[in-house]
Amino acid sequence: MAVKYQFPQDFWWGSATSATQIEGTGEDDGKGRSIWDHWYGTEPNRFYQNIGPGVTSDFLNKYKEDVRLIRDIGHNTFRISFSWSRLIPGGTGEVNQKAVDFYDDLIDELLNHGIEPFVNLYHFDMPMALQEKGGWEARETVDAYEAYAKTAFKLFGDKVSKWFTFNEPIVPVEGGYLYDFHYPNKVDAKAAVQVAYNTAVASAKAVKAFHEMDGTDGKIGIILNLTPSYPRSRNPADLKASEAADLFFNRSFLDPSVLGSYPEKLKEIVKLHGLAPTAEPDDETLLRENTVDILGVNYYQPRRVKAKEHVPNPDGPFLPEWYFDAYVMPGRKMNEYRGWEIYEKGIYDILINLKENYGNIESFISENGMGVQNEERFIENGEIQDDYRIDFVKEHLKWVHRAHQEGANVRGYHMWTTMDNWSWSNAYKNRYGFISVDIETQKRTIKKSGRWIKAVSEAHGFDE
Ligand code: NOJ
Repeated sequence: MAVKYQFPQDFWWGSATSATQIEGTGEDDGKGRSIWDHWYGTEPNRFYQNIGPGVTSDFLNKYKEDVRLIRDIGHNTFRISFSWSRLIPGGTGEVNQKAVDFYDDLIDELLNHGIEPFVNLYHFDMPMALQEKGGWEARETVDAYEAYAKTAFKLFGDKVSKWFTFNEPIVPVEGGYLYDFHYPNKVDAKAAVQVAYNTAVASAKAVKAFHEMDGTDGKIGIILNLTPSYPRSRNPADLKASEAADLFFNRSFLDPSVLGSYPEKLKEIVKLHGLAPTAEPDDETLLRENTVDILGVNYYQPRRVKAKEHVPNPDGPFLPEWYFDAYVMPGRKMNEYRGWEIYEKGIYDILINLKENYGNIESFISENGMGVQNEERFIENGEIQDDYRIDFVKEHLKWVHRAHQEGANVRGYHMWTTMDNWSWSNAYKNRYGFISVDIETQKRTIKKSGRWIKAVSEAHGFDE
């Protein structure tokens, strides 16, 4: 029976995770150290309640149980990431057989339960051995990443047909090189631009390698967090500020990944401040010829932007905020637990923008979700009654549905996240899952939203 918000029968329903956030480091598992192991080792107090990336959700040991739960909540697709430092502990060179066996068995387990794995190659987790040599600031890392991607394609390309080069590549640029919330905690716009550029080149190299590989009919994409910019008014100064925010935070990866080149205006700004990255002569052709097949969109909140009220100090380090002021619009719906604006229509605006200006590239919502603190408050009859999460997802899905009706090429919806997990320096502060995890006992319990998404996935839609 048809429902009011009916999605196609082949729509992808699922949720997303990442290696560092769920696997746990394990014992004798041969994993190398990543920047997260290192940073936690040196500054544990930078992490909420001093909890680091040690055990997390112990997925390494519990993946079989978790795959059954993922099936129980009706998913037909599920995103994981490979941990580079698990697969190739030194960043380059020898492959860790225990990691190959783990990922191989996990993929089989998913396929055997009718769940298609979506595999992302990089989710914020640089191997420490490469960070010591400059990380994404160094061109050698691009080569190392290309070799890693090729290894992954060769090992798992016969079973996995949806690949992603990076998740939210702008976040390590912001966190590691502008705003000090990721290792290596620099505030250095020149390095930030180089890191962003090298990441985009690395992504294009992986796309090229994938397309050149024999015998794959799979697709490769990138996952970007897009924050639509809305100007306070039509006044030229507000419009300009909003455009600048869009260039820095969205188009810096969207344009090279999907269109194969950087926006001219962004290049001008970067040049004006003496921040142009070091490039190699073939890069331009590489980027132009190796755009992605598919785009994952992570959407959490919009950016409300107005013209700068004060001229920034030209002697201080350059920050994108020299160009705009972000503000909170009074009277808007907020995620009270996070202080983020909830603006469901933003998801529609993104999808229509992709349709109109990015060749209607095949896309899916690769993350969207709601982080909530102290969720135990909502337990009744042994189940977290997360009606707020159901509403959040439903209201976003209505806009996805509308965009689809209007011809946007959107193919699926993944919520962040499957089971509550360790969220970087916020550790377990905000819970996002369809399934709760007791971090003391590792016991999993499906939340009300988990039961709800099962019904939605089975009907490929919902009524109200
Ligand atoms: C996006 C990131 O991809 C993920 O790692 C993170 O935990 C969520 N946002 C929630 O903040």
